[in-house]
Amino acid sequence: MARRIVVREFGGPEVLRLESYEPPAPGPGEVRVRHRAVGLNFIDVYFRTGLYPPPDGLPFTPGLEASGVVEALGEGVVDVAVGQRVAYGTGPLGAYADLRIMPADRLVAIPEEISDEVAAAMMLKGMTARYLLKQTYAVKPGDTILVHAAAGGVGLILCQWAKHLGATVIGTVGSREKAEIARAHGCDHPIVYTEEDFAARVKEITGGEGLPVVYDGVGRATFLKSLDCLRPRGLMVSFGNASGPVENFDLGILNRKGSLYVTRPSLFHYTATRAELEACAGDVIEMVRRGIVRIEVEQRFPLERAAEAHRALESRRTVGATVLIP
Ligand SMILES: NC(=O)c1ccc[n+]([C@@H]2O[C@H](COP(=O)([O-])OP(=O)(O)OC[C@H]3O[C@@H](n4cnc5c(N)ncnc54)[C@H](OP(=O)(O)O)[C@@H]3O)[C@@H](O)[C@H]2O)c1
Repeated sequence: MARRIVVREFGGPEVLRLESYEPPAPGPGEVRVRHRAVGLNFIDVYFRTGLYPPPDGLPFTPGLEASGVVEALGEGVVDVAVGQRVAYGTGPLGAYADLRIMPADRLVAIPEEISDEVAAAMMLKGMTARYLLKQTYAVKPGDTILVHAAAGGVGLILCQWAKHLGATVIGTVGSREKAEIARAHGCDHPIVYTEEDFAARVKEITGGEGLPVVYDGVGRATFLKSLDCLRPRGLMVSFGNASGPVENFDLGILNRKGSLYVTRPSLFHYTATRAELEACAGDVIEMVRRGIVRIEVEQRFPLERAAEAHRALESRRTVGATVLIP
């Protein structure tokens, strides 16, 4: 028997319940993976509450990111071997489990020198940072950029990678402790946005010029003010809703604030093909291997305490990445 977390109704963290189940044999193109670590992501909260509808409805097992070892191969699987260490970060849903069936073409081989926990924490978050910084807007030397929730899972990776690309990084954080952590990961100007007006500080730092791009995973609480941080024709990248979704947006604001652009991207559209997934994951692995991006796993919870992990994430008590250990 295997164990997994099942959500039978949408709601608070208490709906995350551990259940036993008998995993099926892998079908054609699938493999069975024994997880060693599972990545926690804010998107898991959106699925749990029903903000994002799970593709197959209720009940479902959350989680899109994990690392583990391949235990069995389905028919036609040739690119993955039994015993191989693998990781994934684009789902499908079902990572909150000690054992699961996965489509083989969503797996990536993990090199020896990357630990199970780091592998589980770097895939969804690292690939997100990568497409945001290299594709949604290509950050170049001399750019000054703003990263919200700079001490978070995606945030710490964005700071380090953007710095490596030659950018000056301004980051918002919820506390002074988080400011120091962000600073230690390449954030040149941490702003405690619970105490300071971040748009005013950005204006000050850029000498009134404004920014070419803002990376905003916080959503409702920061969206409008983020537009005030952009220079004319700047790009607002709204990639998440940790504080709630942005609703009823008046397009005319983009005109009034300087012919601004806005995008609402998703990792899944940047890694839809195998070639895109390999390019994106390969880049993340390389950055981690070279020590340019450090994946900070700061919180660990046993799988059965997933609810506690969600409470910590939603109440802004986490920094860097969190993993569940099966
Ligand atoms: N579109 C995509 O492709 C994609 C992919 C991955 C992640 N994301 C998004 O990226 C964001 C970061 O994800 P993550 O997993 O790395 O989470 P995280 O940043 O580790 O955690 C969320 C952080 O948001 C900040 N926050 C501000 N207001 C908040 C509020 N009212 N409630 C909760 N948190 C609040 C907190 O940092 P402070 O205390 O410092 O404010 C909190 O630690 C999320 O919005 C996620 O959905 C999007």
